[in-house]
Amino acid sequence: MNKEDKSRHFDGRTDKEAIPIFITHEEFRLPELESLTKIEHVKISYNKEEYRKNCPFLVVEIDSEKEATRLIKRAILIRNIYELWGMGKTYEEVHTQVKSKPERWPPYDYKSFKFIVSAFGSTCSSDYQVKIINSFAYLGFKGDIDLKNPEVQFGVLEDYGLDPYLPGPPPEPYMIYFGRSIASGNRDLIQTYNLKKRRYIGNTSMDAELSLIMANQALAAPGKLIYDPFVGTGSFLLTCAQFGAFTMGSDIDGRQIRGQTNRSIKSNVEQYNLNGKVLDTLVFDICHHPFRDNLWFDAIVTDPPYGVRAGAKTLGRKEPFKRPLTPKLIDGIPAHKREDYYPPTKPYEMSEVLSDLLDFAARFLVVGGRLVYWLPTVVDEYSNSDLPEHPSMKLVSNSEQNFGQWARRLVTMEKFKENIIGEHANVLNAKGLDNLSFVYHRKDDVIKEKQSGFKLNLNLISCILKNL
Ligand SMILES: C[S@@+](CC[C@H](N)C(=O)[O-])C[C@H]1O[C@@H](n2cnc3c(N)ncnc32)[C@H](O)[C@@H]1O
Repeated sequence: MNKEDKSRHFDGRTDKEAIPIFITHEEFRLPELESLTKIEHVKISYNKEEYRKNCPFLVVEIDSEKEATRLIKRAILIRNIYELWGMGKTYEEVHTQVKSKPERWPPYDYKSFKFIVSAFGSTCSSDYQVKIINSFAYLGFKGDIDLKNPEVQFGVLEDYGLDPYLPGPPPEPYMIYFGRSIASGNRDLIQTYNLKKRRYIGNTSMDAELSLIMANQALAAPGKLIYDPFVGTGSFLLTCAQFGAFTMGSDIDGRQIRGQTNRSIKSNVEQYNLNGKVLDTLVFDICHHPFRDNLWFDAIVTDPPYGVRAGAKTLGRKEPFKRPLTPKLIDGIPAHKREDYYPPTKPYEMSEVLSDLLDFAARFLVVGGRLVYWLPTVVDEYSNSDLPEHPSMKLVSNSEQNFGQWARRLVTMEKFKENIIGEHANVLNAKGLDNLSFVYHRKDDVIKEKQSGFKLNLNLISCILKNL
């Protein structure tokens, strides 16, 4: 391969284009990875100590390429997986490792190929990229260079870190990885379910990326039944059904479900071609639900109503003793017998919502089933003891999405034993949570606003395969 050929081996970035260094949802990546190992029955091992939130690379050991591909085929926060050929703090170290296993090279001798060079936490000029690519010339690949549809792609990934206290990137990368790209995650789904393209959305519809991550946390898969008791406009019904699960939901407010003519949960189901997977939506107050005692949900995925803006209410009278309980007549007909009757509601405190949700999950989930829900918090005041507990449920993960002073936490719990009648959820900091729900409702708009900003960010996490 002559030098001219190799100068075409870079992926087209110019000096000015930075490698994407935005990392969001960094607390969500490992829980998602762990969930994927469960869903796909893939064993992996990695050093938890090595995982850094501000680094998009993680070295994992997996038995085979097939399993690696399966592992990330529905990943939202994993961008790529590479077979690791060499790593080191210097290129000398990387090349020594690559050269130590020449038996890896022949299968790619005559394949069309492409090299990419990327620097996390820094930029690299095209001249630099070409120089780096040329340094791998000893691989001796004779196939065509194909920048669009190569049969095989190799990646040189430099990690300069993200140190906010440094004025700029360090002169040398902390680590360099070289490997063969094996497979990519499924981040395209974020565009498919983008709220901007969805026919029917409401004030509290959940962002596509997070809804998809939640479906992974819930271990959504074909044959499973997943329920959202605060379904609103049905975001989770769609993303869980996308991964093959049957879904159903309910809400105290039928207007959320019905939407307007041609724009409703039903029209969304049609838009995404999920008929037959999204089973039904029902209207009732979860505090007075009609379910018979039975274990039947494989997962409950929900964004509960915290604060008045999100519609936190339950059936009942605010001040039951203020007025006597006599039927109100409208046109001579008792109000509660009329078609347009809407029963009175009273506020539903955050601590009650949480304890009801956990009790419900403990009762109606199958053993091994998961509850995935959001909990809003004030960053400075949050303590892990704010998380409600239940004797039948154990915590799987608790990931913070930070908005500055405010945050919300994606909590994943698993039912690990049969529910015993009389055992109930324990919400230790009920008072604190109820106060928070009041403030949270006032700060709701701020959260919404910031939420739309992070959608632009990219998440990179490349798992690099070792010892194939
Ligand atoms: C935060 S929103 C859920 C939004 C939903 N995830 C979506 O994507 O549109 C909370 C929902 O809970 C509903 N809700 C409030 N109190 C309820 C109750 N007691 N039982 C059932 N649903 C309730 C509200 O009507 C609201 O639609």
